[in-house]
Formats: sequence, C-alpha cells, structure tokens
Amino acid sequence: MKIAVYPGSFDPITNGHLDILKRALAVFDKVIVLVAYNKDKKCVFSVNERIEMIKDAVKELKNVEVDSTDGLTLAYAKKAKACCLVRGLRAVTDFEYEFKMAEANHYIDKSIEEVFFMSNSEYSFISSSMVNELHLSGVKIDSLVPASVIKAYKNK
Ligand code: PNS
Repeated sequence: MKIAVYPGSFDPITNGHLDILKRALAVFDKVIVLVAYNKDKKCVFSVNERIEMIKDAVKELKNVEVDSTDGLTLAYAKKAKACCLVRGLRAVTDFEYEFKMAEANHYIDKSIEEVFFMSNSEYSFISSSMVNELHLSGVKIDSLVPASVIKAYKNK
C-alpha cells in the first residue's frame, strides 16, 4: 500500500491544494493531508479550524485522511509508514523554496521521497496568503476556495 503525506499550512485550503490532492490520489493508495507548523507564517485560522475546513472539503473523496502535527513532517511520515511527501508546484518561483525544503527533509531522512505535482494553470496564481488578502479587501473568493472556507471566514 503506497501512502503519501501531503503537508502544508493550509491557511486556508484552496482549490489549488485540492487539485494537487486529486492528482496525488490518482497515484497513491492513500493520501494524508497534514496540517503542519511553518515557523515563518502567522496563521489566520487555528489548526482545528484548518482541519475542519479540509475535512469538509475532502468529504466526497476516497482514500484521504486529515491530521496535524506540531513536530517534523518527516517524523510524522515515517510513523504513518508513508513512502513519499507530496507538494505542489505552481510556477518556477516556487522552486527555490521547495528545493530548500526538500533538501532539508532529505537531510533528516533519505528514505522518504518528495514528489511534486504541477498544478493546473487555472490555479497557478492561487495561494492561501493571496486568498486571505483578497478576502480582507472584500474581493469575492468563491471560485478560489471550497465552500467550507467561505463558511469559516463568515464565522470569524
Ligand atoms: O504550506 P507551507 O507553509 O508552504 O508548508 C510548509 C510546511 C508546513 C510543510 C513545512 O514548513 C513543514 O514541513 N513544517 C513542519 C516542520 C518541519 O518538518 N520542518 C523541516 C522541513 S523545512
């Protein structure tokens, strides 16, 4: 059974993340969406809020689990018996960040591969921080995020 972990801040999950998840599900038997801690980000939503939004957004999908960790992503992946980490690449500008992170992960443990999926060009400009900024400026973001995220903004 090929298990992959898809880690990220998911603050909040976007349609771009869902696109990457669906691509990963076509390749792996199970994908665990992992809300992990990014020391460089100040998040808008709590870990629990992010987990709830993701759970609702993936409820129609099979072979998906949602979890969180406040430790190392690789330690979680190892415990979950995952063979790979999944990340999305939107544009060449993502490469340097992803390259550094993959190298750091490889330094921690060489036995877990990092697999990158290219996002659909329709989603290539979407990021969680852009979604937060657009929402804060009063721009409609319905086509960029799942319904659970719109609901969560309303409850904030
Ligand atoms: O969506 P993001 O913020 O780009 O995701 C980055 C994330 C959370 C996957 C990364 O920062 C991470 O893996 N954090 C957990 C701590 C860790 O494992 N650090 C070592 C790898 S840099």
